[in-house]
Amino acid sequence: MAILKTAGLSINFGELWAVNKVDFEIDYSQIVGLIGPNGSGKTTFLNIVSGIYGATQGSVHLAEEEITNLRPFEIYQRGISRTYQSSRLCWDLSVADNLLVGTYTSQGYSLFDAIFKPKKVNNIIYDYLQESLDLLSYFNPDLIDKRYVLAKNIPHIDRRRIEITRAMMGKPKVLLLDEPTAGLNDEETMEMMDDIRKIKEKMQDIAIIIIEHDMKVMEEVPERIVVFNAGAKIFEGVYDEMLQDKGVVDAYIGGAQ
Ligand SMILES: Nc1ncnc2c1ncn2[C@@H]1O[C@H](COP(=O)(O)OP(=O)(O)OP(=O)(O)O)[C@@H](O)[C@H]1O
Ligand SMILES: [Mg+2]
Repeated sequence: MAILKTAGLSINFGELWAVNKVDFEIDYSQIVGLIGPNGSGKTTFLNIVSGIYGATQGSVHLAEEEITNLRPFEIYQRGISRTYQSSRLCWDLSVADNLLVGTYTSQGYSLFDAIFKPKKVNNIIYDYLQESLDLLSYFNPDLIDKRYVLAKNIPHIDRRRIEITRAMMGKPKVLLLDEPTAGLNDEETMEMMDDIRKIKEKMQDIAIIIIEHDMKVMEEVPERIVVFNAGAKIFEGVYDEMLQDKGVVDAYIGGAQ
C-alpha cells in the first residue's frame, strides 16, 4: 500500500516545467531510487513533496491525507523528513549542538517554557540529545566521543550521518535523501550504503526515496528505480530492466558512463 503518492505533480519556473506531470508512488518500507541527468527535476520533486516549493498542478498524498502545498513544518509533523544535497550543518557548532538544531520546533516547547520552565526544557533537551546520540552512534560509535568536536572538523561522511540522524529524529514515515553519497569516496560510499540498510533495521516501516548518481548504489540499495528526464518520469522498474530501457540509455546512462 502506498504511503506517499503524487498525481500529475508539476511546477514551472517561467517557461521551464522543472517537474512535469509526475505520477509517483512508494509503499510502506520500500526504498525507491530516483535518478536522472543534472537539472532533470529530482531535487525540485523532493522540494515540492517536502513543502519547500508549492506545486503548480497536481497533488501529494501521505497515506490517505492530501498534503499538497502544506508548509514544510506541517509536512514534517505528518511524517516526511529529508536531507539536502548540500550540507545544512552549522560548521562552527559541535556535533551535539547540530543534533539539537530543530528541537525547538519538533519537541513542542515554547519560548515561554524556555524562560519560565527551564527545568522542563532542560529535561526535554537532555532526553532528545541522548536519544539522538544513541541513534548517531548506531552509524558510527566513535561519534559519541566526538560529540563536542566542531562539525567542520569531522569527516564528510560523519556530517552526512548527523543530517540523517536529525531527519530520523522526526520519526518519519517517509525519508527523502538527496544524494547522500555526493562528495564521498568509494569506500565511504560503501559505508553509506550500509548506513541506509541500518536505517531500515531501526525503522522497518520507513519508506525511503534516495536520489543518486552512483550506479553501484542504485544497483544495490533500492528495490525500484524511477528515472526523470527534463522534469518527466521516463521509467520505473527494477535496475536490470532500466539498463535495457532505450529511453533511459539515451537520456542518462549513455551519457553517465
Ligand atoms: N527556484 C528555482 N527557480 C528557477 N529555476 C529553478 C529553481 N529550482 C530549480 N530550478 C530549475 O529546475 C530544473 C531542475 O532542477 P533540480 O535542482 O530539481 O535538478 P536535479 O535533477 O536535482 O539536478 P542535479 O542532479 O544537478 O542535482 C533546473 O533547470 C533548475 O535550474
Ligand atoms: Mg539535485
